[in-house]
Amino acid sequence: MDEALKDQFGRRFAYLRLSITDVCNFRCEYCLPDGYQGTPRGFLGRGEIQRLIGYFARLGIRKLRLTGGEPLVRRDVLDIVRDAAATPGIERLAMTTNGYRLVDLAQPLREAGLDAINISLDSLDSENFERITGDRRHVQVMAGVEAALATGFEQVKINTVLLRGLNDFEVADFVEYVRERALSVRFIELMRTRDNSDYFDQRHVRALAVAQQLEADGWTRYQREATDGPAIEFSHPDYAGRIGFITPYAAGFCDGCNRLRVTARGGLRLCLFGDGTRDLRPLLQDDAQETAFRESVFDALFHKTAGHRLHEGDYGDTPHLAMTGG
Ligand code: 5AD
Ligand code: SF4
Repeated sequence: MDEALKDQFGRRFAYLRLSITDVCNFRCEYCLPDGYQGTPRGFLGRGEIQRLIGYFARLGIRKLRLTGGEPLVRRDVLDIVRDAAATPGIERLAMTTNGYRLVDLAQPLREAGLDAINISLDSLDSENFERITGDRRHVQVMAGVEAALATGFEQVKINTVLLRGLNDFEVADFVEYVRERALSVRFIELMRTRDNSDYFDQRHVRALAVAQQLEADGWTRYQREATDGPAIEFSHPDYAGRIGFITPYAAGFCDGCNRLRVTARGGLRLCLFGDGTRDLRPLLQDDAQETAFRESVFDALFHKTAGHRLHEGDYGDTPHLAMTGG
């Protein structure tokens, strides 16, 4: 009973990003500068999550990413991963984490069925890291990256949000970092959200100049696969790893949109910068709701717009990305 999820612009959706908690224990300046302020309760339970994943898999979702907040703050995270990995149709299971528990959890996560991991790491320097994230566990996160590499995930990626004057001078260090490590570092352009407007004006840097410098240094563009995210990646024969860029403000960024998002409370979000969510939670309470669930998702997709309106200064109603996991 597989049916492809499509919108009216012919974009197909085989990739779901599911937040399993809004809570995060870091205080990244651009995301949660005052730390998590919401109610740390009421997130989808393990059973609801499992049903949601099963429903989406039967609608053609093949790749699933678990995000937060910080997904590793959930005590039942290994059970959630195990359930998701065992769902027929889910071919690739990934997670985005700030890495603070990976020293202990990399191996158990891999054994539970996680295929790939993205670790947020905005600086290679401890002091700088603390300045940006408000957290002192830089050494622990760096060791978490090594643990992930040693565990043999299919892919290990690092997300680095480029910030003017805070880490844009570390690009060469990150390039050096991937010389011997088989991971991709992806520089993400800072995105404006409802809560970070002033910060955005101060810190946003375009990634284009950095990408051009890499090309001048002999890096070549790497061919992407259909289910890949929106990053443009570069490789170099002398380096084990890759360098990528995620540039939401670049022309055409939305054309290849292949993902749906669900918040930790079961709201379907069609665009990171859209307005509103469709509440799927009432349809996750028993197996009899599957048809209604499908209808609700199809109806929502029919209303998905062609692209974000960031250039017109409309960045939707996302307060910060801890809400939807980026
Ligand atoms: N702009 C760009 N990236 C962001 N992230 C969180 N908030 C923003 C923002 N406003 C990143 C995190 C993490 C990923 C999930 O999203 O640093 O790497
Ligand atoms: Fe937490 Fe990620 Fe937001 Fe940083 S960017 S505060 S690690 S959710």
